[in-house]
Amino acid sequence: MKESRREFIKTVTGGIIGSWALISIPEESFARYIISNNEDISPDDELFWQVVRDQFPLSKERIYLNNGTMGPSPYVVLEAVKNAMTNIDTFADYGGWDVARPRLAKFVNVEESEISLTHNVTEGINVVAWGLPLKRGDEVIMTTHEHAGNALPWLNRARKDGIVIKAFNPAKSADENLNLINDLITSKTRVIAIPHITCTIGQVFPAKEITQLGHDKGLFVFLDGAHGPGMLDLDLKDIDCDFYATCCHKWMCGPKGTGFLYVKKDMLDVCEALFVGGGSDFGWDMTTKIPEFKGFTPTAHRYDYATQNAALYIGLGAAIDFLYHIGMKNIIKRCKGMSGYLQNELLKLGDKIEMLTPTEEQSRGFVTGFRLKSMAGDKFQEFVQTKKNFRIRYVGEGHLNSIRISTHLYNNYEEINKFLDVVREIA
Ligand SMILES: Cc1ncc(COP(=O)(O)O)c(C=O)c1O
Repeated sequence: MKESRREFIKTVTGGIIGSWALISIPEESFARYIISNNEDISPDDELFWQVVRDQFPLSKERIYLNNGTMGPSPYVVLEAVKNAMTNIDTFADYGGWDVARPRLAKFVNVEESEISLTHNVTEGINVVAWGLPLKRGDEVIMTTHEHAGNALPWLNRARKDGIVIKAFNPAKSADENLNLINDLITSKTRVIAIPHITCTIGQVFPAKEITQLGHDKGLFVFLDGAHGPGMLDLDLKDIDCDFYATCCHKWMCGPKGTGFLYVKKDMLDVCEALFVGGGSDFGWDMTTKIPEFKGFTPTAHRYDYATQNAALYIGLGAAIDFLYHIGMKNIIKRCKGMSGYLQNELLKLGDKIEMLTPTEEQSRGFVTGFRLKSMAGDKFQEFVQTKKNFRIRYVGEGHLNSIRISTHLYNNYEEINKFLDVVREIA
């Protein structure tokens, strides 16, 4: 296998066949065949990662360091969506979006019946925030680092139904955060509803331990998993949380407007489906009495309904294949290496910066958050985007006014070094 991979790379780089020609034929593409099939790839094999980069149409005119907002898709995904769109409108067949459910279930190691298809993270969060049986005075534990997508549904429920939000300021280590959560639990606490990985500084919370703590205290555990799939080798069965809402348009590099909500089997009749329609019921009649909510589809399909864009979910299958072909373990080694390098180089600037992302191995992923002493985050973003041609994200959440750099499998060390040069110049 190793030999064939080398040969392939030689072919590409030798100019016999350009990478563009290669990727314009998805069935023949690098992603479909060789990209490792879970063979170990060195995180420093620049040639290999360059070929991965060539699978993306992402503009080379600008250095994109903002995967945390949106993950660009590779050509195979775009081709799959385009072809499916054409087929749908050629044959005018209805349906087809369910193909994604078993693929997603396998990707995160849960049952197909526990997957609800959504269009983004926020949609899944709203299902849970409104569906759980909560009453006035019930407490929900969150963080001060929430994205609007997790904050607002719960705050809205607080507005409407009088639940109480209690937020903690994340500490730097997994153990400290477990203690912070434990300290917030009272006899009124009903839910832990925190991010798996924060949008602000990319802090990875110890999801399994937090779930265990929550369950020991009889709480529902919901994770905002916007940044989980595609950044972690996610095993939701192992984490054991009750709900996990996420999207496929960030780290999975899938089509924009695709997502899913995991609902653990025994939560189906606890979390009420409030928006229902075609596909979420199993039999009704306008002359029968009002249905019991337990009468809805006996799977997580009860939370999604009606017409969907099948082409996007077919494209999602191609995105999952793409990640499988490279291998999540290879992606993690490469990307954690890059973000670790960035973090270490920034730390060398000493008191000119404030590193916000934990250095603890288990608490960091592909995202680095920091502040520059000499320039506010919003000003820095404006400067690098207008004068230096980078795309980064300023973080206003939690009044942090900091800088977030998020890099994925298509980035490389050269881009990070260029970014570091700018930081050093400003610092
Ligand atoms: C942690 C977190 N939660 C929720 C969201 C909202 O995601 P979406 O726009 O897919 O609903 C984001 C988006 O960046 C996020 O980072």
